[in-house]
Amino acid sequence: MAGFKTLDDLSDIAGKVALVRVDLNLPMKDGSASDVTRVEAVRPTILELCERGAKVVLLAHFGRPKGQRHSTLSTSFVQGDVERVLDKEIMFIPEVSGPVVEQAIGILRPGDIGLMDNVRFWPGEEANDAEFAAGIAAHGDFYVNDAFSAAHRAHATTEGLAHQLPAYAGRAMEKELKALDSALGNPEPPVAAVVGGAKVSTKLAVLENLVGKVQHLIIGGGMANTFLAARGVDVGKSLCEHDLTETANSIMDKADHAGCTVHLPYDVVVAKEFEANPPSLRTCNVHEVAEDEMILDIGPMAVEALADVLKTCRTLVWNGPLGAFETEPFDAATAAFAHTAAALTQEGSLISVAGGGDTVAALAHAGVAQDVTYISTAGGAFLEWMEGKELPGVAALA
Ligand code: 3PG
Repeated sequence: MAGFKTLDDLSDIAGKVALVRVDLNLPMKDGSASDVTRVEAVRPTILELCERGAKVVLLAHFGRPKGQRHSTLSTSFVQGDVERVLDKEIMFIPEVSGPVVEQAIGILRPGDIGLMDNVRFWPGEEANDAEFAAGIAAHGDFYVNDAFSAAHRAHATTEGLAHQLPAYAGRAMEKELKALDSALGNPEPPVAAVVGGAKVSTKLAVLENLVGKVQHLIIGGGMANTFLAARGVDVGKSLCEHDLTETANSIMDKADHAGCTVHLPYDVVVAKEFEANPPSLRTCNVHEVAEDEMILDIGPMAVEALADVLKTCRTLVWNGPLGAFETEPFDAATAAFAHTAAALTQEGSLISVAGGGDTVAALAHAGVAQDVTYISTAGGAFLEWMEGKELPGVAALA
């Protein structure tokens, strides 16, 4: 992991203007955020800067307005949510540069917080236009990036600003980068990676990268069916990308050469209908799936085998559920695996890092979200990191 500066490298910031990039792309329901985890994540950075006397000006995107003002995508819609989490009032600034911003910052006192409007209202943001970034930078003394979940975007406020002002990682970014480094950058071996989810096609690059880095690759969810089919298993009417069986075979070959064991289930939970507790529910060997049945979860023997694998590992990186966990009882394997990972983490024998919306939801559903080492709320950025890509927002901080 390349070195980056943190808030510890800042001194004498009283009265200075901190331009702080946060991710306020919050899921909304009935006019307010239905999940404020991302705001809670950046709270320490914002409050620390306030306590140290900086004027904190927040920069964020909200949705995808594509370079135009959009009446429903102003960051003013999340202002109330941010105020509640911070327990502090915020001044909304309806621009990102120019006299309105200058005036607003002039009114802010040390320790106060301002929130600029959606940076994506201006085309310069996504184009990473240097002039646009310079216009924003003119209002700040330094730049803090605390938005790991937007770091896969090379945009003006996620990347460009780092070249215009002294740049620092915020506390959430710092924590995230350290956790990710301990999971894949410089992990303690043996490392197990779980890659689950519906489709192989969305996670090809992840799988290709992981086979060269981890000792155990556990494939779950609908993706596992494609791998089973590649091994000649008849998966009935399960979700399966038959056109990708060749690719699945080549990934398994690469894994073989790299000394990585690919784990596929040998028993599965199947049903004829995809609904909660269907009458046709049964558990069987993978070779006994009938042509009108679907695989919807991995079976209890496979879960036990995976627990045994995990007990031999020191590091786990997890993206994607093992089964169709949102529908009972197809959450059983994911929940059992989550409990094992959490227990081993609590015993101190495993470093467990999980990321991605579904995985976070699955851990919360299993009631063990607090018991793993680190949970990343980033979606696309977490996947790109698992693909081994350099994230522009992170690279710019180095
Ligand atoms: C996210 O919600 O994953 C981030 O805020 C990035 O949003 P984007 O995919 O619109 O760039």
